[in-house]
Amino acid sequence: MCGIVGYVGDQDAVPILINGLKRLEYRGYDSSGIAIHHNGKIEVRRSVGKLTNLEKTLSKKALSGTTGIGHTRWATHGKPSEQNAHPHRSGGCVLVHNGIIENYLPLKQQLQKEGYHFESETDTEVVAHLVAKYMKQGQGLSDAVQAATKEIRGSYAIAAVCEGEPHSLVVARSGCPLVIGRSGKSSLVASDVMAMLAHTRDVIYLEEGDLAVVTPTDIRVIDAQRHPVTRATTAITWDSEAAEKSGYPHFMLKEIHEQPQTILDTLRGRYSFETGEADLPDLSLTSAQLIAAKKIWIVACGTSWHAGLVGKYLLEEMVKASVQVDIASEFRYRDPLVEKDDLFITISQSGETADTLAAAREAKLKGARVMSIVNVVGSTLARESDGVIYTHCGPEIGVASTKAFTAQLTALYMLALHLGRVRGTLNANDGRIWLERVVSLPMRVEHILKREAEIVAIAKRYYMKRNFLYLGRGINYPIALEGALKLKEISYIHAEGYAAGEMKHGPIALIDKDMPVVVLAPRDRLYEKTVSNLMEVKARNAPVIAFVSEGERDLGKAADAVFTIPDVPQLLTPILFVVALQLLAYHVAVLRGTDVDQPRNLAKSVTVE
Ligand code: AGP
Repeated sequence: MCGIVGYVGDQDAVPILINGLKRLEYRGYDSSGIAIHHNGKIEVRRSVGKLTNLEKTLSKKALSGTTGIGHTRWATHGKPSEQNAHPHRSGGCVLVHNGIIENYLPLKQQLQKEGYHFESETDTEVVAHLVAKYMKQGQGLSDAVQAATKEIRGSYAIAAVCEGEPHSLVVARSGCPLVIGRSGKSSLVASDVMAMLAHTRDVIYLEEGDLAVVTPTDIRVIDAQRHPVTRATTAITWDSEAAEKSGYPHFMLKEIHEQPQTILDTLRGRYSFETGEADLPDLSLTSAQLIAAKKIWIVACGTSWHAGLVGKYLLEEMVKASVQVDIASEFRYRDPLVEKDDLFITISQSGETADTLAAAREAKLKGARVMSIVNVVGSTLARESDGVIYTHCGPEIGVASTKAFTAQLTALYMLALHLGRVRGTLNANDGRIWLERVVSLPMRVEHILKREAEIVAIAKRYYMKRNFLYLGRGINYPIALEGALKLKEISYIHAEGYAAGEMKHGPIALIDKDMPVVVLAPRDRLYEKTVSNLMEVKARNAPVIAFVSEGERDLGKAADAVFTIPDVPQLLTPILFVVALQLLAYHVAVLRGTDVDQPRNLAKSVTVE
């Protein structure tokens, strides 16, 4: 997820773009840049790191002009670097992009054959060369952008300028937001209203497939069918802080609701229904290496460790491989029996967690092949791994991990498919069936999010309780752990996750009317056993909050509160249960008045031991 701004009008664009980018830094902050029309040319300034570095660059090499675009980046393709920072240029065209171009590799190869030289590792530069190519054929900027967007697949929000048209911007969107505002003799474009609230509160939200030509006095929009349209103007009533959260009260809730999109973005361009295979170009491990691995390790911390536990069930079921999962801080201080050629998987949102980094280094020293599932491109863990699967969920601002966790699960779904196909435990048809189920997940998560009010009602009944127990079996035992972690870390309620079958080996002594018990009971082969655990809990007068599959009938009065999830195959239930449990933790915390986005004592990335 990146931040885009654009300005065309009667004022100096540079301070307007910089201030706009500052309001969008939460969307990405590994590099930034601006392009300005200056004396008939377009000049570009770019810097790695925070926006303050771009301001320093501009203080040394000033720029001014009344038309320009700017970008703050969250890397998805290509590490954070000045070469990979936007804007990207080709010929007289300069543009910025937010999103993921799924088919950038074949397009890049074709453009290279046609003589286009690439300077960056990004998918975005492909779009710049495509636009330049069409402009060379005599098309104006808007027609060239239109033609280019017909060739790309994936998600994009694009803002483009060109040297021959000094008083206009061309913007286009598909799958990523773009908003346009008017203010006096100026017009602005941005990824969201945050960047323009200082200038106008009357904005136009472009719709899927729209393209717009923006001048200081005019906005011409054409729709996906290239028909001129008039988009409604919306008056923004939010204050700027609320706008940064897109109107949500907390980043955590915003990020919970982003999950259909972030799951989709993590899947984009990484599978083929035709072959029933996953396509993980950054994995950089050969089939032979993946086949040779006698043992698979998954090592991580906290929520990422819970993802690893889900990964164990996935890989053992789909790849028939022996998987050992470890907490990184435990792993690194044993003399772990890692052997040469083992596949060592680390999972980390930040890619900077000290214990996880140390574990990866230890494994490497012992000759294992290290791959990581990471959200931050160019992070230490990503750079030190032999292969990477990036979770494309953008910056996760809330300290309690939500969208990063479901993106990690999504990456594990694709890794399980890849390993299954490479190691021969899954055939093409198995792969296609699996892909159909995984690709339906964003829509199913959306279905759960739409029923948030049911979760609020449950939270209202139990938020004053001081202890919770979360029970799950099989692949949902890690989700019981994760649900409990979410609750404890943001509401400060003591909550424990337990394997449901383990409850009678001790925790049952805790159970009484003041201890709500959350039970994850999907319609799977363990259902009857989980229900009997639920009955044991009920018999001790504990309030039971049951999360079950749609169509569930047997629970009757056994549960005090029931929330249903879509009836999907067992291996996919974790990603649906966890979204409901994230909402439960969030609403309990809000009712208790805790600092949801920055809970006490916690840090977003534990870079120390
Ligand atoms: C998640 O809600 C927690 N804040 C924490 O457990 C986190 O998952 C853990 O610190 C690992 O971080 P990482 O994914 O960046 O390595």
